[in-house]
Amino acid sequence: MSSHYVPNTKTPTIVFETSGQATRHLALMIESLIRQNNSASRPTVLGLPTGSTPVGLYRELIRLRQEAGLDFSRVITFNLDEYFPMPKDDPHSYNRWMHETFFNHVNIPPQNIHIPDGTIPPDQIDDYCQAYEQLIRRAGGIDLQILGIGRTGHIGFNEPGSTRASRTRRVTLDPVTRRDAASGFYGEENVPHQAVTMGVGTILDARKIVIMAFGEHKANTVKKAVEGEVTEAVAASFLQNHPDSTFLLDSAAAGQLTAVQTPWVIGPVDWTDAKIRQAVIWLSLQVKKGLLKLDDDDFREHHLYELLREHGPAEKLGQRVFADRMSTIVHSPAGDAANGRQKILVFSPHPDDDVISMGGTLIRLVEQGHEVHIAYMTSGNIAVFDHDAERYVDYATAFNRLFGIDEAKSATLRDGITRFLKTKTIRQPDSDALLKVKGLIREAEARAAALACGIPPEQLVFMDLRFYRTGTIAKAPIHPQDIDDIARLLGSLQPAQIYVAGEMSDPHGTHRTCAEAIYSAVRRVRSVGQQFQVWLYRGAWEEFEPHELERVVPLSPDQLERKKQAIFRHQSQKDRAMFPGGSDRREFWQRAEDRNLDTARVYDQLGLPEFYALEGFVQWREE
Ligand code: F6R
Repeated sequence: MSSHYVPNTKTPTIVFETSGQATRHLALMIESLIRQNNSASRPTVLGLPTGSTPVGLYRELIRLRQEAGLDFSRVITFNLDEYFPMPKDDPHSYNRWMHETFFNHVNIPPQNIHIPDGTIPPDQIDDYCQAYEQLIRRAGGIDLQILGIGRTGHIGFNEPGSTRASRTRRVTLDPVTRRDAASGFYGEENVPHQAVTMGVGTILDARKIVIMAFGEHKANTVKKAVEGEVTEAVAASFLQNHPDSTFLLDSAAAGQLTAVQTPWVIGPVDWTDAKIRQAVIWLSLQVKKGLLKLDDDDFREHHLYELLREHGPAEKLGQRVFADRMSTIVHSPAGDAANGRQKILVFSPHPDDDVISMGGTLIRLVEQGHEVHIAYMTSGNIAVFDHDAERYVDYATAFNRLFGIDEAKSATLRDGITRFLKTKTIRQPDSDALLKVKGLIREAEARAAALACGIPPEQLVFMDLRFYRTGTIAKAPIHPQDIDDIARLLGSLQPAQIYVAGEMSDPHGTHRTCAEAIYSAVRRVRSVGQQFQVWLYRGAWEEFEPHELERVVPLSPDQLERKKQAIFRHQSQKDRAMFPGGSDRREFWQRAEDRNLDTARVYDQLGLPEFYALEGFVQWREE
């Protein structure tokens, strides 16, 4: 398991390649703590979080219970928080979530489980919170407090402004936190405004604290928490003053740390090709001079003397990185079809990731005479508004009536769906019929978008992978048959290149799950001799960093326009493009356009040829 401590952080921080590795590390730590205490007949008191981050941890602990007989009978738990007000059995309650996700699968005695109660009458909350603190004290205090971190920097629900001394209490949630929770509640307006949470002081009383953060959407917050000042504006920064607290990160969440972004500012660097490229590109953008215009003083004045001494002079370094970046520019990503028409297979986790991230390249590949296939991995049905589904059902019924197609049956179907929607509460998952309608809407949009790129319907596959079919935001783990389906598709199509959404940080893990499933399938078919290139596009939200890009495909104004037209075909995704919880309300087509224009601008600033727009890719390599 490759992991390392990050230099220059104020709270000890360990980075793992993947969140799975970080999670296993923590699970083993918990296992050894429990076993040690069990053998001394002592209880183990754990402080527990909810949210998307600890899901893998709970899965791993359940596995340790089932496969290694880990005995939880002496474990006492205190959960950090609960929404307020919130009935215990509500699908959104942390109480229910904890039981379904963890407690129902291990042998912690029910009387040892403590979760803040979201049903306490408001006038009794203060007493209740004091009693919760007392229960923790009576249990001997918390041995190990496990935390996640919110994008506001909150731990528990200690939002900006929470003091170091704060204790268990009722709090008002930050708008960012409510927005982050919105998709789980089918809309921000349904997210409770308040919660009951352990305080910063309560958390810091724990003897040991481990805080996990996974995904690039956490990277900025993590940087503030571990490199910034201790401040009430970022509750997690208080961990800097705790004698035994550790951050566990995956590489995406570590992405903004100084040791990752500009390690030369901190200390000596092992000047690999990749590091040289990163430093010289950074320098060029920093001093606003093209790569070939950099001089020795630029290096000396920006912590890069060592690089200059070992690999300089500036002219040589500039030329080296210039040549390397030039080699990333590829006009025909699958070569000239005159030398062989290639089969290309693009995997799109949701039905619109393909056109958003690489629509221009799709258009080029088709224009260049190649045969492009797209595999839509999930239905994306949960991202369709009810009112859109209702409109389509109305359309389909009217269509059937107009053309005399089984009118009675379609009216019955429509009435069923309308009735369901009338009585649907905010807490209720969609009916099967409604989910089907929503999936169908996205399927039709994907067909229209692919056609706008010149790809006919017979070259599209709708895989509807099993792990996604929960009808809710929470997804199941990848199903073995999902991997079989992907491997079979690779085997039958025999593509020369495949494209995969390589961004590992979408909030609900769909991209990550899809990518991991594809990698497993790729390993399988490669082991029986199948050969093809695997290219990664970043996913819907961001582009790769300029120094990471291994291939850029230029788009003309006309191609970018066509790409935008293809993205427009995903009409149900209008108003859906907000970065999870972010304040950026640009639509997907705007984000895609800005991102492609920006990449071209960076190339221009580096003194490379000036393009209108660029789409970026990196190659997947076996770890
Ligand atoms: C959960 C909690 C919160 C979460 C944080 C991160 O009990 O107290 O502090 O840990 O909001 O949430 P996820 O893990 O969903 O990103």
